Amino acid sequence: MTNAIKQNQVCYRTFHLDQPWSLESYEKIGGYKIWKSVVAGEIKPDFIIQSIKDSMLMGRGGAGFPTGLKMGFVNRDKPGQKYLVCNSDESEPGTSKDRFILSKNPHQLIEGMAIAAYTMGATVAYNYMRGEFMHEFNQCEKALQEAKEAGLIGHHVLGSKISIQIHNLIGAGAYIVGEETAMLESLEGKRAMPRYKPPFPANYGLYGKPTTVNNTESLASIPVILEKGAEWFKSLGTEKSGGTKIFSVSGHVAKPGVFELPLGTSFKDLLKLCGGIRNNRGCKAVIPGGSSMKVVPGKTMLGAEMSYEGMKAVNSAIGSGGVIVMDDCTCMVHALTCIVKFYRDESCGQCTPCREGTGWLHEMLLDILSGKGKVEDVDRLVDVANKIEGRTICAFGEAVAWPVQSFIEHFRDEFVYFCRNGESMISGTKNGK
Ligand SMILES: Cc1cc2nc3c(=O)[nH]c(=O)nc-3n(C[C@H](O)[C@H](O)[C@H](O)COP(=O)(O)O)c2cc1C
Repeated sequence: MTNAIKQNQVCYRTFHLDQPWSLESYEKIGGYKIWKSVVAGEIKPDFIIQSIKDSMLMGRGGAGFPTGLKMGFVNRDKPGQKYLVCNSDESEPGTSKDRFILSKNPHQLIEGMAIAAYTMGATVAYNYMRGEFMHEFNQCEKALQEAKEAGLIGHHVLGSKISIQIHNLIGAGAYIVGEETAMLESLEGKRAMPRYKPPFPANYGLYGKPTTVNNTESLASIPVILEKGAEWFKSLGTEKSGGTKIFSVSGHVAKPGVFELPLGTSFKDLLKLCGGIRNNRGCKAVIPGGSSMKVVPGKTMLGAEMSYEGMKAVNSAIGSGGVIVMDDCTCMVHALTCIVKFYRDESCGQCTPCREGTGWLHEMLLDILSGKGKVEDVDRLVDVANKIEGRTICAFGEAVAWPVQSFIEHFRDEFVYFCRNGESMISGTKNGK
């Protein structure tokens, strides 16, 4: 039942407060209590790592890597500088969740960053925001200033021997900066080109030093997990997907929006929260995790649950939680062309299969849309996508290959029809109009 779903329990838990972004409001709900206990030596790094592992928090940036496991990769006792980077690039199309943490609950993120940095032995942390996030950047700057004035961040936190410097940064708006090693390059003042891995950032990160990169939602979840306990957090979700997830729902729903919900919530209930499909139309297809994830037919989604295992069962992934809903008026040839154009524009050009392949895919789709397509082009699209997948330095290759493969797998007849007839199977969408 939609009514029974409890929202906003973790990253958005301050949203009901007056001026939720202020230090005063955050402290009213017990904010910085955990950080103060860490600074006082009452909570030790090993306990923090174990708690995050037990909570089953998986990275919320897209790949779903277990956050606790990643926290343990950096050896905190090894001498030398270490860094924490918060990935607030939020560049995945369909995703608009981190911006609300940054603008409305920045203190919880600062607390999460301070705890995570201290746990891995880092004294410097960066919060890297996308170029368009001017308002969010200003909110984070104000919050950071408040935290510094309260002695919570900076040299000798609360009179202790602990020092943590946090810096907010704003990029120039490129999608590829969201890839963690491209972000490190950009932080170093270079062009955002993903690095070869290995070495991984935990060994060779920012300025060649051990570094952890975590998503905004992952880091902002940490204070709540430690305050309420790993078991509490885990029990919000399913057996394999602990906690809550923020879903940004866009597309053909009556009321698009952003919802923090327990993992395992059914897609049907999420759809109800959005007022259903607009104009009472049918649900044709859904991309459940941002445009890089595989599209799922609407019928299948209506029986699915929004969890890591639930999305795996329908051959897609929860990704960044960017849920893009398409109703039965959608022409899938147009929809895919739109997605592929984005990847063509955003390819950094470093790897040949991606640089050339994204252009080929887009040109072939434009040909189909303009009535010049041949039926063989449908298989050729899949062939090119297959040849990009797994052949690039970063996962951008998969991000463009998966939509192409899955759109054609599920909606092949529409692509073939367009090639044969020079127009869409869906009336009113002829030649890209
Ligand atoms: C092309 C590309 C774009 C990405 N964009 C983002 C992004 O905007 N935000 C983000 O948190 N992770 C993004 N990622 C994933 C990051 O590389 C990395 O996995 C993530 O920041 C790790 O944080 P997490 O473990 O907390 O999820 C992107 C990855 C790729 C390949």
